[in-house]
Amino acid sequence: MHTKPLYQTERGSAFVGDSLDLLKEVADQSVDLVMTSPPFALRRQKTYGNVEETDYVEWITPFCIEVFRILKESGSFILDLGGAYRAGMPSRSLYNFRVLLMLCDNVGFHLAEDFYWFNPAKLPSPIEWVNKRKIRAKDAVNTVWWLSKTESPKADVRKVLVPYSDRMKKLIQDPENFYTPKKRPSGHDISASFGKDNGGALPSNLLTIPNTDSNSSYLWLCKELGLPRHPARFPVELPAFFIKMLTDEGDIVLDIFGGSNTTGFAAEALRRCWLTFEQDREYLVSSVFRFLEGRSIDFVKCILNKLSVNDAGLILNDIVCNLGSSRQTKASRDVLMDMPSETRQMALLEGQKEYKTRQAPLKGQ
Ligand SMILES: C[S@@+](CC[C@H](N)C(=O)[O-])C[C@H]1O[C@@H](n2cnc3c(N)ncnc32)[C@H](O)[C@@H]1O
Repeated sequence: MHTKPLYQTERGSAFVGDSLDLLKEVADQSVDLVMTSPPFALRRQKTYGNVEETDYVEWITPFCIEVFRILKESGSFILDLGGAYRAGMPSRSLYNFRVLLMLCDNVGFHLAEDFYWFNPAKLPSPIEWVNKRKIRAKDAVNTVWWLSKTESPKADVRKVLVPYSDRMKKLIQDPENFYTPKKRPSGHDISASFGKDNGGALPSNLLTIPNTDSNSSYLWLCKELGLPRHPARFPVELPAFFIKMLTDEGDIVLDIFGGSNTTGFAAEALRRCWLTFEQDREYLVSSVFRFLEGRSIDFVKCILNKLSVNDAGLILNDIVCNLGSSRQTKASRDVLMDMPSETRQMALLEGQKEYKTRQAPLKGQ
């Protein structure tokens, strides 16, 4: 890439710009996974702008053609699209299905599998049909298309096994007593090996992931520093699932509608290389908070200062990036917030001192 990133970590780089332009700088067949969530064709406008459902396929097609070009033969394209209603009527838009047909019929992708992301925490909407008139159920599932360049993309579901059910755990502990191998009415021959412990159960294509993050350093620092939070983030578990299943350590993951860089954060934590493109500079600036877990406010302010320069090219060294840490971090933050303000100020300064001794210096340009 000849465009300078806004910031970079050991494994990834975040670029401000129109991804249609930035994609042109990416070499053919060089990326293992494109994981993204574009602006949906929603009736209720988001601050970053939405495309009308009638224009949607035309709008997204050029991005997808570029994605096809830059993906390796073994690569995958994960496209998260929320459902939408047509203007003024309780009738669903077909835009997400039209996009899928366009990708397979015109661009040349294969539909490896259709996934459904169920967010049990989603608020009821649209208000008119669900809350007021009560004639439609709450819309809580996004379609997530897993597309591939060939019919056999790199994939291994053993990397995303889910916990066994209690029933299955009992069967594994005592297969003789719990279960007699037999043929099912469906014709499936369930043998004794069914009771083998494989370390977890196979995942299904229904991903139940509540979008309820309230603990991350990203949200906390946006609040502390009065910066807007991205209004349409997906939960880190969503990109993490596909990154684990479809890539290996060191592979390249790209998000072309990066927002708050959830994908880059998940990729970094999973030791994959990553690129993020986002047209809104403000969103990308605050996305750096994801990589500043445990830093003092003063240190974060210093980073923000450096990012105020165009194409800052800031290099973040020795970042803390852990997929599972937010609850623990919240607990230590709560202790901090309960302190009287002077003690808190001291603690924050201590945090900064600790940072200075612990970290390599920042290389900003
Ligand atoms: C649904 S949001 C993505 C949110 C992201 N998954 C996250 O977790 O934060 C879509 C993003 O695409 C960005 N966007 C829209 N058109 C773009 C373009 N042509 N190039 C780059 N970014 C674009 C918007 O600014 C918005 O932040």
